[in-house]
Amino acid sequence: MPSKSPKESWSSKKSFILAATGAAVGLGNIWKFPYMAGDNGGSAFVIIYLICVVFIGLPIMMAEIILGKCGCKNPIDTMKNLAIEAKATPMWRYTGWIGSLSLLLILSFYSVVSGWSIFYLLKTSVGFFNNKTPYEITEYWNTFLQSPLNLLIWHSLFMFITMYVVAKGVKNGLEKASNILMPALFVVLILLAIYSSATGDSKKALNFLFSFDYHKITPSLIIDALGHAFFTLALGAGCMLVYGAYLPKKVTVSGSVVSIAFLDVMVAFLSGMAIFPLVFKYNLTPQGGPGLMFEVLPITFAQMPFGSIIGTFFFLLLLFAAWTSSISLAEPLVLLLIEKAKISRKISAIIVGCTAWVIGIGSLLSFNLWSDYKLFGKWTIFYINTDLTTNFLLPIGGLLFSVFAGWKLSQIKAREALGFQKEWQYKSWLFLVKYIAPIAIILIIAKAVI
Ligand code: TRP
Repeated sequence: MPSKSPKESWSSKKSFILAATGAAVGLGNIWKFPYMAGDNGGSAFVIIYLICVVFIGLPIMMAEIILGKCGCKNPIDTMKNLAIEAKATPMWRYTGWIGSLSLLLILSFYSVVSGWSIFYLLKTSVGFFNNKTPYEITEYWNTFLQSPLNLLIWHSLFMFITMYVVAKGVKNGLEKASNILMPALFVVLILLAIYSSATGDSKKALNFLFSFDYHKITPSLIIDALGHAFFTLALGAGCMLVYGAYLPKKVTVSGSVVSIAFLDVMVAFLSGMAIFPLVFKYNLTPQGGPGLMFEVLPITFAQMPFGSIIGTFFFLLLLFAAWTSSISLAEPLVLLLIEKAKISRKISAIIVGCTAWVIGIGSLLSFNLWSDYKLFGKWTIFYINTDLTTNFLLPIGGLLFSVFAGWKLSQIKAREALGFQKEWQYKSWLFLVKYIAPIAIILIIAKAVI
């Protein structure tokens, strides 16, 4: 056994695409995108986010996946081995360490927020929100956050179901389920967006999300948009690298990446159109913060025909999407322990799960008992894990992957792994990862810090 690599593998290109889409589509699209857009004044955020997805996210996603494909190991060893091969310093391995830290912190709060979704699923399914006024529904959210024990139960449950799947290895069952559930999530979101646009203030919502107003662009908006592009595409932390490492040798990646990113953005837009028409109709503020989705959507479910059934489906599918994403957060960490500490997948999963669970407790207490504990009087633990990790650690990880793929990796290997049909596509990719993405990330971070 010790001589055998514990490496898993996707059965086909299609299962890779499903798994990578599963990693990308999650709470980031449905829960985080609307409130980030809301907090940042809407359209300016949306446009900058799109630019970041296309010119920074897409090329870096390709870079990260091909690094995994060429290295075939956990992110740390992959970076170290590829660096040695390229006669570069083995210090590149620290990229893998930074990524692992990001994954752990993100996983910890991801489970807390997914826990909120489990609770709201249960409440919606028994028709709890029917007959409640919008005011009562938003008040209910605030009361819910005040109960640490309640939050802890759902956080623990979600962490358990994530680590259960991870402990069992890359799951065929999950791949098959994605085949049906991902399209189903799309359908439910379309339904919600249509209903919300028809009954709410769709004109204002469209205006808010898409009419570009460059006056609103600020350094903090740009860093939020950059961070969100990384978060939503699951980039900069070694997650896509590991999914690339599980690719069969012959499969190339460039085409798949474009469709994954397209789908990902569409889900976010649909979610925005499900939420904002109602925000404006009921005069709620778009700056609802992390609670926005939980305050607004139950109002829809309370009013629309068959609301509790559709709401139940919605939360079920959201949970499924969150589940596949959280698995993708945990998988690289578990692989790391398996390969580095030479322990079994099961034990590794338990260690990763327990660590993230404990850190998650800090996040959930940020909303109640520890709400006054703030680093530099500003940042709660939840905020550190969500915003600071997303806005700084992920782009820094992405920057390093990009520089490595553009400047150090053998371009013969890169070209082969990417499998572009046309030379100009490869040339554009190389230009983006060599110059545009790194320079843009450095400038954006520098501007946000200084
Ligand atoms: N993309 C996921 C979402 O939008 C979150 C996620 C999954 C992630 N895996 C990741 C973020 C790896 C960063 C790195 O919800």
